[in-house]
Order: sequence, then structure tokens, then C-alpha cells
Amino acid sequence: MAKSGQKPRVLGVFGSPRRDGNSATLLEEVLGAAEQQGATVERVVLADKTIAPCRACDACLKTGVCVQHDDMQELVDRMVESNVWALATPVYWWGPSAQLKTFVDRWYGAWHNPAHRAAFAGKRAVLVASMGDSDPATARHVVGMFQDAFAYVGMTLAATVLAPNVSNRSDASKRAELIDAARAAGREAVADL
Ligand SMILES: Cc1cc2nc3c(=O)[nH]c(=O)nc-3n(C[C@H](O)[C@H](O)[C@H](O)COP(=O)(O)O)c2cc1C
Repeated sequence: MAKSGQKPRVLGVFGSPRRDGNSATLLEEVLGAAEQQGATVERVVLADKTIAPCRACDACLKTGVCVQHDDMQELVDRMVESNVWALATPVYWWGPSAQLKTFVDRWYGAWHNPAHRAAFAGKRAVLVASMGDSDPATARHVVGMFQDAFAYVGMTLAATVLAPNVSNRSDASKRAELIDAARAAGREAVADL
């Protein structure tokens, strides 16, 4: 049981269109390890959700509400309710997947809603990034983007799992060091919560 007397809640966000791919495999290990530490885990597969790109209409600045009515409202509620977000993405063209970037852009609406700002401050995140290249520095822009974004909204990036040299969807499942790193990240994410 957590310090607060409540189980920590971890929101797992699957950002690859490959549901059985490398980032999904490693995110499942993160979530499984967090669960073993007593956390409650929820999963969101972004490819299954309808999330429209931010229109930059800035209506949310005036009203606190996004003009687009899609699955994002439900996801914001889940973000608010969780203590840790565990995000997983493939590296696509040195950046995150379109699914994950679209989701992140829509944080803009939540950020401009006083009630939903609580979704961010003081929370923890874990980032998993898979890539075909053998050099983990290929993920530097993905890591940098999330380091800066989390710092901006007052969150802590508790752990990062980089998986280089994984191209076929089952590659990560055969790499013990990646599985170990993902499990360690899951434990770290909920430590002392
Ligand atoms: C559209 C696309 C763009 C990609 N761009 C890169 C890239 O810039 N660098 C890289 O190392 N791998 C790149 N890859 C390979 C993926 O990152 C790699 O296959 C990864 O393991 C996919 O993750 P997943 O199995 O979770 O879907 C790309 C793959 C696709 C489909």
C-alpha cells in the first residue's frame, strides 16, 4: 500500500500503431512491475482512440474547454486521476509517433482549464522509446521534448527506457537487458508513492 494509504495509479499510454510491437512490450513490463509494487494500472491504446489534432483556435484560453468533442475528454479525466503516466512511442523520423504527438498537443486544452491543470503538477512520468537505429541517441529529440514538456507542466520524468536496434515487432521481447530496464522503470515510477 502506498504512503498516502491509496494505491498509486499508473496510466499506461501506448503510442505505437503496433499493439504487439516493441514499445508496447516494454510498456507492459513497466506496468507489470508497477502493479507488483501495489499500483493500479490502466491502459490506453492511442491508435484505438479518436483524437483530433489541436486546431490552435485558442477557445480553451477563454473557456477552459476544447471545442473538439472526441476521446480526449475521457483521457484527460484519466490523466487527472493517475499519479504516474507511462508513455511509450516508437521513434518515427527522430520524433514521437503521430498518435503520441497528437495526444500531447491536446494537453494544451487541459493545461488551460484550471480544474484540469491538476492533471500535471507533481506527477511522475516514464518514457519508453523504441527505434530501429543501433544508437540510442536517435531518441534524443523525443527525450528532449518530454524533458522540456514535463518540466514546463511541473512533472518529473522518473525514468526513461530507450530500446535501440529493435525493428521487428518481437525484437524487444528477446532482449533481457531491455526487459530488465523496463521493470526497473516501473518500480522507480511508483517508489515512495
Ligand atoms: C514511419 C516510420 C519512421 C521511422 N523512423 C525511424 C527513425 O527515425 N529512427 C529509427 O531509428 N527508427 C525509425 N523507425 C523504426 C521504428 O522506430 C522501429 O521499428 C520501432 O521498433 C517501432 O516501434 P514499435 O515496435 O513499438 O512499433 C521508423 C519506423 C516507421 C514505421
